[in-house]
Amino acid sequence: MKISSTRAALASALTLSVALGAACRRRETPAAGSASATPGPAGEPPLTAFAALPAAGNLAEAKVTLGRRLFHDTRLSGDNTLSCASCHSLDHGGAEPRRVSTGIRGQQGPINSPTVLNARFNFVQFWDGRAADLAAQAAGPVANPIEMGNTWAHVVETLNAEPSYVSAFTSVYGAQGLTEANVRDAIATYEMSLVTPSRFDRYLGGDRSALTAAEREGLAEFVNVGCTACHTGVNIGGAMYQKMGLVENYFTRRGGPLTEADHGRFNVTHQESDRHFFKVPTLRNVALTAPYFHDGSHATLPEAVRTMGAVQLGRRLDDAQVQHIVTFLNALTGELPANARPPANEVAPAAPAPTPAAP
Ligand code: HEC
Ligand code: HEC
Repeated sequence: MKISSTRAALASALTLSVALGAACRRRETPAAGSASATPGPAGEPPLTAFAALPAAGNLAEAKVTLGRRLFHDTRLSGDNTLSCASCHSLDHGGAEPRRVSTGIRGQQGPINSPTVLNARFNFVQFWDGRAADLAAQAAGPVANPIEMGNTWAHVVETLNAEPSYVSAFTSVYGAQGLTEANVRDAIATYEMSLVTPSRFDRYLGGDRSALTAAEREGLAEFVNVGCTACHTGVNIGGAMYQKMGLVENYFTRRGGPLTEADHGRFNVTHQESDRHFFKVPTLRNVALTAPYFHDGSHATLPEAVRTMGAVQLGRRLDDAQVQHIVTFLNALTGELPANARPPANEVAPAAPAPTPAAP
């Protein structure tokens, strides 16, 4: 969604939420899984804004296993200290427990890492959408001097010195073997496997008992206050760019100097109308991924929900509303596939010490 002014953006968001509110009470047909889509029970909000997670699909198991090893291997970084998992921890919802990323030699990055879980369902990658897909995305961090600080030539050389990698690449990619493109392909395939169905997906599939009464109440609040104008689709986000601070200036409210990262999509397009626009993030597993927002400025989920209500919707949510919504968001925590974590003999790296989030 590309919008030329705040007013137009607001009008558009409100039109969308009105349209959603007016939609008839029917369940979104799940993209995969249960075929028994039944009409929503009376008194519950329409579910047309959402879609259940599709299954991961048929991914070549050997590729997923190879990508998993690469994702957790610190040899991808210039000084052997960081793996992808250092900033995208499976124990932290696929994101990191610190405000902004810490790259090699302790360098502070400009922005908070988004989750890799279900990232394949985002319409673009990165907060500002500068990568089209996961394979394109994987090129970035390795060569970024303040992230992994390596070169692809050096990565390929290092991995080539490890016989078990050479044989794994040959068995998966044949004569092509161990190349930069294949390293990226294997990592992207592993990321494609990181799909985390939750109880909310079972609910969307027609199993009303999959959510508690309190979670259903939170879902109703989430829809009724208008969060679904932006957090919509399979990822409850990840489907459009939107302005951070659509109704009220977020950056004034936050305080502190504007950083380059705060300009969001503008940094890619240099269009004034894209200033402070970000990819609307997925809310799947959001209860696990604090701190929140591109700047990691909000330490807790209730704070983030309250700020969203104010700056995106112009609503002062009261404590009960915030609590209901947070209860619903907790039901979006899904299950990792059984083989997501590396086996003990593939040593997981120690993440750098977290820096505490600001109050
Ligand atoms: C030093 C920390 C760090 C490391 C190491 C790192 N990332 Fe990231 N990752 C980030 C940050 C920060 C962002 C967001 C950057 C932005 O949007 O400008 C990000 C974004 C992403 C995204 C986009 C997700 C989305 O929804 O937009 C994916 C996918 C991803 N990283 C995968 C990887 C992979 C694969 C590796 C290893 C090759 C890796 N990352 C290594 C910090 C890191
Ligand atoms: C007008 C679009 C819009 C609306 C409406 C909206 N959001 Fe957001 N939401 C965004 C954008 C854009 C971001 C990312 C902003 C950033 O990081 O600077 C975001 C981020 C978030 C985050 C942080 C996620 C993370 O991983 O850091 C949460 C939580 C959230 N929204 C919840 C909500 C809730 C709850 C509502 C309803 C009260 C809501 N949002 C309404 C656009 C919207």
